[in-house]
Amino acid sequence: MPINEKLFRLLIDNAMVGVYIVDEEQLFQYVNPALTAMLGYTSEEVIGTFRFPSFIHPDDIPLLVHNYQQRLSGEIPSARYEARALHKSGRVVNIEIYGTYVDINGKRSLAGTVIDITQRVTAEQALEELNRTLEQRIATELALSREKDRMVMQQSRFAALGEMVAGIAHQWRQPLNMLGMSVQALQLAHGKGILTAEFMERHTEKSLEVLKYMSQTIDDFRNFFRPETAPRNFRLDEAVERVVVFFTSSVNTIAITTDVQNRATMCGHMNELSQVLLNILNNARDALLERQVEAPAIVVAVTRSDTANLIRVSDNGGGIPDELIDRVFDPFFSTKDAAKGTGLGLYMVKSIVEKSMKGTVTVRNTGTGAEFTITLPFPGADDCGVERKGEHT
Ligand SMILES: Nc1ncnc2c1ncn2[C@@H]1O[C@H](COP(=O)(O)OP(=O)(O)OP(=O)(O)O)[C@@H](O)[C@H]1O
Ligand SMILES: [Mg+2]
Repeated sequence: MPINEKLFRLLIDNAMVGVYIVDEEQLFQYVNPALTAMLGYTSEEVIGTFRFPSFIHPDDIPLLVHNYQQRLSGEIPSARYEARALHKSGRVVNIEIYGTYVDINGKRSLAGTVIDITQRVTAEQALEELNRTLEQRIATELALSREKDRMVMQQSRFAALGEMVAGIAHQWRQPLNMLGMSVQALQLAHGKGILTAEFMERHTEKSLEVLKYMSQTIDDFRNFFRPETAPRNFRLDEAVERVVVFFTSSVNTIAITTDVQNRATMCGHMNELSQVLLNILNNARDALLERQVEAPAIVVAVTRSDTANLIRVSDNGGGIPDELIDRVFDPFFSTKDAAKGTGLGLYMVKSIVEKSMKGTVTVRNTGTGAEFTITLPFPGADDCGVERKGEHT
């Protein structure tokens, strides 16, 4: 069936892409409705009046003219390129042009199609911009997160320092009283004229003993909080006992029980585990004292499952409200007033357990109180190697 001009016309008038014909001077001879819609003009306004470059962004005109001349001179039969057109409203329309040289009634002309690619170009530009700024944004975020880590470390050091000072202060209260009384007794005896050499000797000896104990306390606390550098082998149950003894020395109203069913060795930093346990124990103490529980008790159990060593700390302090329990490991989450809690305790616990000990820590309410479980999966770092020999001989 021969396809006549009418059919062609119908197709082009209804085409979804813009279609044009321009003459040798680039004057529009024909534009279809899709193209006029794209540019915001009517075909009457365009045909015979406008030249192709009138619609093109000034910066892209040289490219257009170049392509046009190449085709008109027969250098290339067709060209496909992108340019920016200007809508009647002044808005930029990104277009892709496919133009071909044609001979119409012996006259050199160009016919072509135009599609609107604004959406694609905008998306590409956004992507480019994103890529360009991504590196910068990652660097900024990294710096921010490092700064946050540094602040958290700083705060946790202060917290440890506070812990140490509070511990020493607690241990010193009694001996300071004793020293005070001893000095008063000397003064009193001297005033009454009964200060014998023997009396003097006894009091001095006693005072020196007390001072020695006080000095020892400083060393104990220093050692407890001193950061270790190289990982060492240590027994989980021994680490737990050490913390419990330390904790009991400052808290004597709470019944603390240890339940050791696993004497596994692990390789790492014992002081880190001490910090972890101490934070959990301190929280239990706070809950028990704050809620004035009648028979306050804490149980620390060292056990194992088929796949991991487990340390479990449970208390009977009433537990954590359900709506808060998911947030207790978040940094700066605290229900205590600013003087009592920074909200970094459990955040530190989580980061030490996960990053340094390659384990996990979870919490649940038992009905009577909170229960924290530290899971240290096998085959974990249970042997530092080199040291083992020395340790077992
Ligand atoms: N054993 C527990 N019983 C009840 N609530 C607890 C217990 N342990 C933790 N919490 C809750 O979790 C919160 C967060 O604990 P976390 O140790 O992170 O911070 P904090 O104790 O408030 O302050 P910080 O430890 O920094 O001094 C506590 O404020 C408390 O509300
Ligand atoms: Mg705490």
